[in-house]
Amino acid sequence: MASEAIVELAKRRGFFFGSNGAYGGTAGFYTFGPQGAALKKNVEDAWRDRFTIREGNREIEAPTIMPEAVFEASGHLEGFDDMLVECGECGESHRADHLVEAVTEIEDAEALPGDEVEDLIADNDIACPSCGTPLAGESVEDFNLMFATDIGPGDGQPGYLRPETAQGIFVEFPRLKEYARGNLPFGITQIGPAYRNEISPRGGLLRLREFTQAELEQFIDPEADEPPLDRVRDVSVRLYPATEQEADEGEYVETTVGEAVDEGIIGSPWVGYYLGVAKEWYDRVGVDLDRFRFRQHLAGERAHYASDCWDAESEVDGDWIEIAGFSYRADYDLSKHGEYGDDAFTVFKRYDEPKTVERATVDPDMSVLGPEFGGDAAAVAEALETLAERDPGAFDGETVSVEVGEGDGAETHEVDADVANFSVETVTENGEHLTPHVVEPSFGVGRTVQTLLAHAYSEDEVDGEERTYLSLAPEVAPQDAAVFPLVTNDERLTELADRVAADLREAGLAVAYDDSGSIGRRYRRQDEIGTPFCVTIDRDGIEGDGDETVTVRERDSAAQVRVPAGKLAEELVALRGG
Ligand code: GAP
Repeated sequence: MASEAIVELAKRRGFFFGSNGAYGGTAGFYTFGPQGAALKKNVEDAWRDRFTIREGNREIEAPTIMPEAVFEASGHLEGFDDMLVECGECGESHRADHLVEAVTEIEDAEALPGDEVEDLIADNDIACPSCGTPLAGESVEDFNLMFATDIGPGDGQPGYLRPETAQGIFVEFPRLKEYARGNLPFGITQIGPAYRNEISPRGGLLRLREFTQAELEQFIDPEADEPPLDRVRDVSVRLYPATEQEADEGEYVETTVGEAVDEGIIGSPWVGYYLGVAKEWYDRVGVDLDRFRFRQHLAGERAHYASDCWDAESEVDGDWIEIAGFSYRADYDLSKHGEYGDDAFTVFKRYDEPKTVERATVDPDMSVLGPEFGGDAAAVAEALETLAERDPGAFDGETVSVEVGEGDGAETHEVDADVANFSVETVTENGEHLTPHVVEPSFGVGRTVQTLLAHAYSEDEVDGEERTYLSLAPEVAPQDAAVFPLVTNDERLTELADRVAADLREAGLAVAYDDSGSIGRRYRRQDEIGTPFCVTIDRDGIEGDGDETVTVRERDSAAQVRVPAGKLAEELVALRGG
């Protein structure tokens, strides 16, 4: 089903629609209507159940606005950019890399330098998609995607809306590790909004400026911690590794998680583990697995923090859409926050047995370093200390050579070895400070919702009539059931229908009540929003000697069964699952 048709159905049936319509609309912002909000919440609950509760992880909720220093440290201020080209004629901005990808064989134009993308725009006669004016000669700029704001009045502190929920977890690591009693591995999850000032929002929920992420930051000791890989070893996966994408006629690798890790196709067992868990979860919530794959990022495509990344991708309308990313972030984030922040972003790793080690130390004679080295004295002393830790052999000669400063301003100083006061002490160590590595499964909730709608969309014929229905998994469907009194002019029927609806709601089910129009029309309305069960109250159910009964119609097969009214809640709760 085409994306436009999903967007149209979504609007008509209250799943989602463009926000602020009364004010002309605001591109990149969508409001979830009653059905969509329920579907989205059910997807989040199913994610929480699998990635937080069943993994024994803990969930937090951090603020969405964070001070500038956080994003200086995380690298987002410097490198969270997209390539923008502005049309000189109509003033519309576009993603330069996407324009190039649309007309060339290049799949990853984002990895190219800006001037090369400019040349490709000119060489391929690419025109502005809004007004048709050729874009040759327009400059390609880096555009930072973060929304800026001020924290507090006046010249307050500069802040940004978080571009990923992850940073809210990383900056609180010093406290979160205490709740884990300093023991690795542990995982922290968060479900919440993230903000990116996308140049060209598009495709309903696919590329928004405000969207919901469900993220897990798994903190591990890379030397010691192993995932429970056996749980997902036999899960089959369709992989599209970078090497296959680069090959001329690249192919999928159809394998199992266990084999892919054993053969090194998936480099990290932790990433492999979460690909397996995710594949099972996508099956559970109703992604069509024939339209699903894991694709490894090409080297130039990876985010600034990732040393390896696999995306979960679903096929919608002939296009592959990234619905989640599984990154190996190593110690990038915690090291950066350790460097910029003033707290400990490490854990203390206790050795099984205390170790006796020789530690090289220096105690530079500052009275000599002072006058001789002027303003650089403290920096020279620090450089000597670092050198003693890294390369004690450097102190073997009469002089020691140390470099101070960075880049063009770097200066090499020759220091008399006696002045450095180098010595080696024998000490007993109980452990070491370790910066954990991070493995990150990061899901887009909106993109999952849109995939579920696209994959659930079905058409068939029932009793000679065409119908459209959403075969959503009962666990995520916005309504669990709908209750219909067959007619409204028989109090016995409406009274039982009211009672049945109340019982089902009391059992925690989301129940619609509909008494208007023909039964056929009422079924169609529920089919279009994916309600798995419609319960009809008719005269046969109340007349006769036995218990009251109702008919239950299952959405996909349209088959009907008669069920005692008193047993209905229990049966529907079991069928809902989750
Ligand atoms: N913390 C890692 C991270 O943010 P990402 O690949 O940039 O990684 C993760 O985003 C997921 O968030 C994506 O796989 C996608 O599902 C979703 N996402 C990213 N940008 C989005 C946007 N502009 N609109 C909707 N969903 C988006």
